[in-house]
Amino acid sequence: MSRRRQVYEGKGKVLFEGPEPGTLVQYFKDDATAFNAQKRGVITGKGVINNRISEFLMTRIAEMGIPTHFVRRLNMREQLVKEVEIIPVEVVVRNIAAGSFTKRMGVPEGTALPRSIVEFFYKSDELDDPLITEEHVTAFGWANPQEIDEMVSMALRINDIMSGLFYGVGIRLIDFKVEFGRHYQGDEVRTILADEISPDSCRFWDIQTNDKLDKDRFRRDMGGAEEAYQEVARRLGILPEGGPRDMKGPEVMQ
Ligand code: TMP
Repeated sequence: MSRRRQVYEGKGKVLFEGPEPGTLVQYFKDDATAFNAQKRGVITGKGVINNRISEFLMTRIAEMGIPTHFVRRLNMREQLVKEVEIIPVEVVVRNIAAGSFTKRMGVPEGTALPRSIVEFFYKSDELDDPLITEEHVTAFGWANPQEIDEMVSMALRINDIMSGLFYGVGIRLIDFKVEFGRHYQGDEVRTILADEISPDSCRFWDIQTNDKLDKDRFRRDMGGAEEAYQEVARRLGILPEGGPRDMKGPEVMQ
């Protein structure tokens, strides 16, 4: 078996060169970090579940006409994606106050927002992903005004699609983060959805009980993170065959 060249390692994923030019293999780790990696741990089976959940959500989103980097799932922990130039801006959509918003705005957790609010954060571990405005994005050339418009309109459509989808399985979509990339094809460049969408990058609360079914269980040492991720997959009807037993998956893949 040939060794694949690693092109990037992030906190939760590794990217390898793909089988064809213009593709990458995205490998999902069980490693979990919070607060810019000040807190580190492992959520057993997370990589397998996030691979499935992200596949499922990206597929539903693509069906609604939003271009994504997802090509196909390869195995338990890997998916084939299109290679993009990541726009260094995290786009967050919030429906209900939670997380950093509650502290910054003094709004209690769980407060319904008058409308969905879109925020931008600059992707920089060094600076701790600061909140930024469109002015910063254009002034520093991280994205142009057209790309900002595309990111905002796609993020809001993703919010509509996912809010409905999760409502149908008894989960309230509180907020989420998405990332976009530039996909170059010949002379053309297109803004497409990239990265992942999973309980690492969303807040999900049970509609009946308000139980947290996402990474806040790890961030806040609440326990039950593994079970929460499995529960999201189970409700979406995509728990890996064999259930949690299968979730360790292949450990070494280089
Ligand atoms: P926040 O309330 O901490 O700003 O998070 C907003 C949303 O973004 C939440 O759904 C979690 C997600 N998120 C990430 O995906 N990566 C991050 O580094 C952070 C801080 C939040």
